[in-house]
Amino acid sequence: MTKPLPIAFTPARLQSLATEHGTPLWVYDAATIRERAASLKRFDVVRFAQKACSNTHILRVLREQGVKVDAVSRGEILRALAAGYQTGGDEIVFTADLLDHATLATVVEHRVPVNAGSIDMLGQLGAVSPGHPVWLRINPGFGHGHSHKTNTGGEHSKHGIWHTDLPEALAAIRAHGLKLVGLHMHIGSGVDYGHLAQVGQAMVGLVRVAVNAGHDLHAISAGGGLSIPYRDGDAGIDVDHYFGLWDASRRQAEALVGHKLTLELEPGRYLVAESAVLLAEVRAVKNSGANRFVLVDAGFNELMRPAMYGAFHGMSVIGAGGEAQPAVVAGPLCESGDVFTQGPGGEVLTRQLPPAAVGDLLVIHDAGAYGASMSSNYNSRPLAAEVLVDGEATRLIRRRQTVEELLALEL
Ligand code: LLP
Repeated sequence: MTKPLPIAFTPARLQSLATEHGTPLWVYDAATIRERAASLKRFDVVRFAQKACSNTHILRVLREQGVKVDAVSRGEILRALAAGYQTGGDEIVFTADLLDHATLATVVEHRVPVNAGSIDMLGQLGAVSPGHPVWLRINPGFGHGHSHKTNTGGEHSKHGIWHTDLPEALAAIRAHGLKLVGLHMHIGSGVDYGHLAQVGQAMVGLVRVAVNAGHDLHAISAGGGLSIPYRDGDAGIDVDHYFGLWDASRRQAEALVGHKLTLELEPGRYLVAESAVLLAEVRAVKNSGANRFVLVDAGFNELMRPAMYGAFHGMSVIGAGGEAQPAVVAGPLCESGDVFTQGPGGEVLTRQLPPAAVGDLLVIHDAGAYGASMSSNYNSRPLAAEVLVDGEATRLIRRRQTVEELLALEL
């Protein structure tokens, strides 16, 4: 059993998009993105972590829903601007653990608030941009993730300012004439409620430290990390419960600062993961000993998550009929790890799929987050095209890259 796809994704429509645009092809559904954004309305600010999916057309859909944006590179700031996000306020926030020279110049030019994950960033920013608005991203000393690679808290994580260094960070803000906006925490991707209550309490403790040091602040951010049900039967996130836990912490923090605080949420995956599929054509089927390999024309250069984290993505086949059989689904790359059905240790797994034949279309589900945005040109493969479906309308939102474009960079 696989979870249902967005209703706009009928087999006939996906097949016709693949025929028109070729494969591999990313297909997004605008209605799903709007619905996810609407479900988070209880938070004062929803800020999309665009690293999950940074196509400017997707950013536009989110902006129309009132969703603000987080950028983690100069490129992501320029993408946000291209999508219509405005500077001069807090529509764009830059989050990082360091400032390279070009990015520093860009955040100063556009006065983009900086969410600082290191004290060095504060000194570098303060030296050139007095009064610049800053957030402090704090590592509370613990974290949690769907993989150890997506755990962003604790002493093994490079992210954030270590919680006991908060007084030093606050002193740096004062010394460099910066303006504190708020405190931020993101302990990882793949939330669990146990840690959530703990993070909320850690936030209250940090606000107390800031207040005791004579600082005022206006906002707290719960970070992102909301999980989605990749497997049929996985529990989805209960957004109201999530809000309730954070709202309770916010109220405690408000009692400390003596005024209202804006509560921000910074999801990436939750807003876009279930909005998209990756379409690939079956190009070869073969048996190696006991394993039946279904080889498709998309690889980990398109969707890296299975190879990187052993992540599970639901799959279906358009065209095939008959009883499901175990299959290893793999791509075209010249690398043994180019397998979509694998475990966290890289072990090759099988999936029950209809007996796919050459020419059938493989649909990889829940590919909207950390799919296209993590693609690469490995094996000199051009980036795949992206299509946005909005009701009856369909729009090519990124054309397929060409090999000539890759080569042009080397001339
Ligand atoms: N805020 C910060 C500071 C982050 O570092 C991240 C993700 C997010 C928000 C959004 O997290 P989300 O809501 O999407 O879980 N490539 C991995 C996920 C890496 C996440 C990196 N930071 C994956 O495919 O699962």
